[in-house]
Amino acid sequence: MLVLGIESSCDETAVALMEDTGSGQPQLLSSVISTQIPLHRMYGGVIPELASRNHSANLPAVLQEALEKANRSIHQVDVFASTAGPGLVAALLVGNTAAKALALAARKPFVAVNHLEGHMLSPFITHPAGLVPHLGLVVSGGHSLLIDVKGASDYTLLGRSRDDAAGEAFDKVAKMLDLPYPGGPEIDKLAEKGDPERFKLPRPMMHEDHLDFSFSGLKTAVLYTLPKLVASGNPHELDEQTMCDLCAGVRQAIIDVLLHKAVKALRKSHHKVLAVSGGVSCNSGLRRQLQEMCERRRIELILPPNSLTTDNAAMIAYAGLLRARAGDFSPLDTPVDPNLKLAGVQLRK
Ligand code: KG4
Ligand code: ZN
Repeated sequence: MLVLGIESSCDETAVALMEDTGSGQPQLLSSVISTQIPLHRMYGGVIPELASRNHSANLPAVLQEALEKANRSIHQVDVFASTAGPGLVAALLVGNTAAKALALAARKPFVAVNHLEGHMLSPFITHPAGLVPHLGLVVSGGHSLLIDVKGASDYTLLGRSRDDAAGEAFDKVAKMLDLPYPGGPEIDKLAEKGDPERFKLPRPMMHEDHLDFSFSGLKTAVLYTLPKLVASGNPHELDEQTMCDLCAGVRQAIIDVLLHKAVKALRKSHHKVLAVSGGVSCNSGLRRQLQEMCERRRIELILPPNSLTTDNAAMIAYAGLLRARAGDFSPLDTPVDPNLKLAGVQLRK
């Protein structure tokens, strides 16, 4: 079975081809990503209309390249999968409509994939044993989720962000420091040269009993810290070491909360496997500290390779493939939903 996945929920236009030979792990034949980040960077964030227009312009070439790299023709595709949400509605519509049109023309089935389910499953694309029961920690630009995964389409939400997601916190703090969009990788780079202990930043909700997250207090703390360092509050007046220390402090505050809640959720769910996914999972400090924590606690840690942490279509093809294996296809009139909840997946069996 050959699955073609299309992702266009935000600012990456992506197409991937994955083959299921029936035995063992499916093979990822190609994964092509055309990023619009340089385009949106000059606005300090994603402009939805611009994203949509560029998905339309880029998709045909990305599709062509993915087919060529996989050495397959469009006529060989058995299943078309695409992101149905959450994301920017005008951006979602481009990839989603293309996948539906291709499925209709080829008289092949279509699978509407939840973007968060795609992220959550992404660590297993390259895992020799495939999908195993685990605790999933999804940390992306829009979401921070803790999910008890018993198997394919058997998910229970244990915790979520009540305000800003982890990636959003990185991005908002970076904006305050006038660092380029997206802020996560910039803060990560500077944090490597900084002292995480110099600034005492809050760890919101860390010691509360529930498994929800809150990161919005972090940007407020940085907002109040800036004028104490330079009277003008202008981040360009910070000396280089202070900037690095501030970034290290922010990164460590986010890591501490994520690790703390993950340990709590592992205890609660009794899982011995932790899989971490989403754009923030390529944070070098987070990856290092997750490894240390999991070694100490004898937890198996499964991380996607860096290329599969931020938005990609391999994760959409993989989620589509697991659904196709179960014969769980979507009607062509399935709408895109910018607020699609993972809970929707939770109900489907
Ligand atoms: O998963 P993703 O590509 O898109 C969403 O589904 O939201 O995640 C994007 C987020 C952005 O907030 C970006 O700043 C963050 O992932 N990110 C990082 C790093 N690389 C990307 N955050 C922290 N450290 C990084 N190295
Ligand atoms: Zn994403």
